[in-house]
Amino acid sequence: MYFLRRLEEYRTAKQRLAWEGSFREYLEIVRKNPHVCRLAHSRLYDLITAAGVEEVNGQKRYCFFNRELFGLDRTLEKLVEEYFHPAARRLDVRKRILLLMGPVSGGKSTLVNMLKRGLEEYSRTDEGALYGIKGCPMHEEPLHLIPRELRGEFQEEYGIHIEGELCPACRLRLETEFSGGIEEVPVERVLFSEEKRVGIGTFTPSDPKSQDIAELTGSIDFSAITEYGSESDPRAYRFDGELNIANRGMMEFQQMLRTIQHSCCRSRLAVSAKHRQVQRNAFTLSV
Ligand SMILES: Nc1ncnc2c1ncn2[C@@H]1O[C@H](COP(=O)(O)OP(=O)(O)OP(=O)(O)O)[C@@H](O)[C@H]1O
Ligand SMILES: [Mg+2]
Repeated sequence: MYFLRRLEEYRTAKQRLAWEGSFREYLEIVRKNPHVCRLAHSRLYDLITAAGVEEVNGQKRYCFFNRELFGLDRTLEKLVEEYFHPAARRLDVRKRILLLMGPVSGGKSTLVNMLKRGLEEYSRTDEGALYGIKGCPMHEEPLHLIPRELRGEFQEEYGIHIEGELCPACRLRLETEFSGGIEEVPVERVLFSEEKRVGIGTFTPSDPKSQDIAELTGSIDFSAITEYGSESDPRAYRFDGELNIANRGMMEFQQMLRTIQHSCCRSRLAVSAKHRQVQRNAFTLSV
């Protein structure tokens, strides 16, 4: 009996989290709590620091990692202070991917999984709540609906800088379904879930010969081309790659350097040149 009651409580809690409204209502939420439109790095940084920071002998210790990772205080301090913190402040390091390098069983996957699970839980709290355009395959930030010309005025009134453009699918819907009526576009609360492929993506390399780039980027839906008449119609594109669904959250790319090795087997020189290129564009953390 107790378990059945727990099931009911679980369902009620889930229903309580669901929110749907119009863009007009979303603006009210933004006014009361501007945190809802943070960018991904900023949300991750807040998630980590919200668990608390201790200082032992001048060494910072982030309690968020305490439960599963031991003896990596220096590495984790570097990760938070040199990557997440500046990235949260929109400095250029955010354009880099985070490359974790280290020996087998060094804790790399543990670290990534903690961030993924943390993000899922955080998006279910009031502090970590976020919202997206309902029906958008990439859970797009609704503020992207605001035209570029009006963003300056929006910033003056709300104190929020809007970054990024509307995705092609939403742009088309705005014109065809809502005739440009931004206020009425439906918005919903986004709850990150790796299982449901919302906001958390994972790319696991398989056979390099049969692996398709579409797993990352999505692909053209050939059956829809006949209906919409053109390859460039957003309705004829499936935005279902790992990079698409990971929008607003995080994406794990497993065995990245090994994948390059397989896909670029012309020569050892070419492979190491590719490795160097990836590392130049990454923030490398030795775990
Ligand atoms: N610093 C650590 N503190 C506590 N446990 C650790 C630490 N590093 C690794 N482990 C444990 O070792 C096991 C393997 O770790 P994990 O899978 O995260 O390693 P990895 O770096 O991803 O290895 P691989 O290179 O094989 O993918 C896990 O059970 C993890 O809990
Ligand atoms: Mg691993």
